[in-house]
Amino acid sequence: MTKNITIEDLRNHKKKKTKFACLTAYDASLSRLMSEAGVELILVGDSLGMVVQGHDSTIPVSMEDLLYHLRCVKRGNVKSHIMADMPFMSYATENLAYDNAMRLMQAGANSVKVEGGEWILKTTELLSQRGIPVCAHLGLTPQSINRLGGYRVQGRDLDDKNRILSEAKQLEDAGAELILLECVPAILAEEISSSLKVPTIGIGAGSATDGQIMVCYDLIGAYSWENQPKFVKNFMNEANSISEAFETYVSEVKNLNFPSAENSF
Ligand code: KIV
Repeated sequence: MTKNITIEDLRNHKKKKTKFACLTAYDASLSRLMSEAGVELILVGDSLGMVVQGHDSTIPVSMEDLLYHLRCVKRGNVKSHIMADMPFMSYATENLAYDNAMRLMQAGANSVKVEGGEWILKTTELLSQRGIPVCAHLGLTPQSINRLGGYRVQGRDLDDKNRILSEAKQLEDAGAELILLECVPAILAEEISSSLKVPTIGIGAGSATDGQIMVCYDLIGAYSWENQPKFVKNFMNEANSISEAFETYVSEVKNLNFPSAENSF
């Protein structure tokens, strides 16, 4: 039996209309600090390709990279739910998805995250039927950056908005336990969050999602952006330690002080 925060705990936040805080982590030391600060969910994100490895996208991240960082995070974690990203092309076919999700779960993940809409419906259904909680990542999906043509807000025109809304509902029906919305207008994230039973997690998606997530290197001001996105907030500006910055983030998410309108689209 896991000692970590469960999907059911996150669902209870939605039922009670209380917010939960999520952060990415890639190592034992920061995952311990954020877990002790009350972060409910830690994502071992493929953003590690950019913030740890120095690539300009998440595409070069391999399964071996993800597994290495997942094991580091697991050693530091105290009680947070650990979600592992499935790297680029690691779920391109059903057989790949089975094998790679199995490796992540056996290495200590409590759930996995996959990017995409309609094309991940079947994968979501198959993994979920086999006992693997799936988070579906919609909106700006960084693994598709070469098709999207840039890190831009998604769901601004009516067709795109309706597509994302319909994909969120279909993914819930297919068994997704969580939906992550990246860089979508706050009004769309609100509509999706209120029409789904499963919790939503937002980044650059306004304050109406059930949880919020940030890349931890953004929160501590350790990543140099060429053009810093609106949703990034450096919590070290007013903190005396990294632990204090994590604690402030958790309380700002729970008190609805973060994200503010200036961090949203
Ligand atoms: O990999 C990552 O850090 C992510 C976040 C942007 C949510 O997917």
